[in-house]
Amino acid sequence: MNEGNMTHYDVLIIGSGAAGMTLALKLSKQFRIAILCKEEPNEGATYYAQGGVAAVLDEYDSIDSHIEDTLRAGAGLCHRDVVKFTVEQSPDIIRWLIELGVRFDTETDEGGSHFHLTQEGGHSHRRVIHAADATGKEIALTLYQQLSTYENVEFFKRYVAVDLITEDSIGRHGKRCLGAYVLNQDTQQVELFRATYVVLATGGASKVYLYTSNPDTASGDGIAMAWRAGCRVGNLEFNQFHPTCLYHPEARSFLVTEALRGEGAKLRLPDGSLFMHRFHEMGELAPRDIVARAIDHEMKRLGCDCVYLDISHREEDFIKSHFPNIHARCLEFGIDITRRPIPIVPAAHYTCGGIVTDLSGATDIPNLFAIGESSFTGLHGANRMASNSLLECMVFATAAARRIESQGPQKPSTLPVPAWDESQVTNSDEDVVISHNWDELRRFMWDYVGIVRTNKRLQRARRRVQLLNQEVTEYYSNYRISHDLLELRNLITVADLIIQSAIRRHESRGLHYTLDYPDLLAEAEDTILVPSNFG
Ligand code: FAD
Ligand code: SIN
Repeated sequence: MNEGNMTHYDVLIIGSGAAGMTLALKLSKQFRIAILCKEEPNEGATYYAQGGVAAVLDEYDSIDSHIEDTLRAGAGLCHRDVVKFTVEQSPDIIRWLIELGVRFDTETDEGGSHFHLTQEGGHSHRRVIHAADATGKEIALTLYQQLSTYENVEFFKRYVAVDLITEDSIGRHGKRCLGAYVLNQDTQQVELFRATYVVLATGGASKVYLYTSNPDTASGDGIAMAWRAGCRVGNLEFNQFHPTCLYHPEARSFLVTEALRGEGAKLRLPDGSLFMHRFHEMGELAPRDIVARAIDHEMKRLGCDCVYLDISHREEDFIKSHFPNIHARCLEFGIDITRRPIPIVPAAHYTCGGIVTDLSGATDIPNLFAIGESSFTGLHGANRMASNSLLECMVFATAAARRIESQGPQKPSTLPVPAWDESQVTNSDEDVVISHNWDELRRFMWDYVGIVRTNKRLQRARRRVQLLNQEVTEYYSNYRISHDLLELRNLITVADLIIQSAIRRHESRGLHYTLDYPDLLAEAEDTILVPSNFG
């Protein structure tokens, strides 16, 4: 249905990563679906995923072992029922991907040909199925290729969702989600998308930090929109820092997969000595929070700019065939990883918390779902185990599809929704405010809300975020919106939620480490923030 500039869909999916595209593929073709993405369909974290997907595929592995490893990495805060729910579906998800045409790496030995499984931090078995060191690209391209043959699915590129529309946001009784206002970046007009079901699949918020492995899309838009609409958010203090990102002045955001350590790479200090054994018995394959903190500690202790990751002892052919992209990318910067160690530093990588959902991705708002990295399902606890994220995206997208299917395509709401009102705003003549505030936010988040926190640093960050919030709220009310302004507004909201969550946690657990409360409390509790318009 299209009335003027208003379109009605059965399902509006905001985000075209593994979560959003899986949902569109899993829904039956009777649903009319719109998928929005801020840039191109494959410009999200999914496309850049390297290591692979964790799944129980080996006869010597077991569901129980995957569950126990996830719980251990999550430092006592994972929801056991959610971990079990997710892990049990891992073999089916991989089968589904293979049927769709995803080509995972195989190897041949005396037992015949089988999938090559690699290992990553926290896993006690080889259970990460992968496509060399570019698993995300292989999955994303396959999902997209499949979807492009679906006539019931329409992609909207360069469309940025601004805010959700709920019954109460338009002055009606009730909370039901009715759609979203969306900025069309080509026309600079805000369009109204109405839908029976709205699904946030917008990815994480790692761009809130100055140094990140994430693409530019990761500005926490879904989390901020859901919060403004009245959804609870959970465990946002747990920001995962990936231990190994290439350190080079020109190498923006380049991750060096943990699978290198799974295949024997060692972490070395500038003098060549090993150090991980001093921090954890699993050494280089300890859970990610421990490795990132160990590197941070050693860099501060020695005053060095980076440490080194060394796989040069493995055969050249092995390195080139397992890690062709990392090999090629490092060579562009003059680093031949078959011969010398790679300079690396930790960088913000993954948002473990997010919008509170149940086992089907349903949020606090009727007809609004959240899946993938934007959600808080309870799977990751205080530290996500490597390669459990793509799995979560696909498991929860499947569950959300099942739930939506069970409710069926409903009659569209006939409530009149006002068009976007621009009558009170003008064009900005001071865009420098956006770039300046953006830079300031990401810098103080890195300095004060990073790998090691203190009460004083968090309070300092809180004061700054409040000032930025005032300034940007005023700017938002007076000037015409732009992509950059929307992202900045959302990043400020999410930064504030991260800081509030971190201030509430009076212990060090998993990824949240504070010098003021270095110990673990006996009881593990989630940090749930409740917005004033909740319920
Ligand atoms: P994304 O793939 O990030 O997609 C988000 C989508 O939402 C994009 O299409 C974006 O345009 C859209 N969007 C956002 N905001 C808006 C808005 N306002 N309006 C419209 N559209 C919007 N995990 C693993 O399990 N295994 C790995 O090997 C692995 N490697 C990784 C390597 C890197 C470099 C990175 C960055 C992450 C890696 N992860 C890995 C994590 C994993 O890739 C992500 O958690 C996962 O892909 C998130 O998928 P998603 O569908 O939730 O979001
Ligand atoms: C990696 O390949 O190291 C990233 C894996 C992940 O984030 O799960």
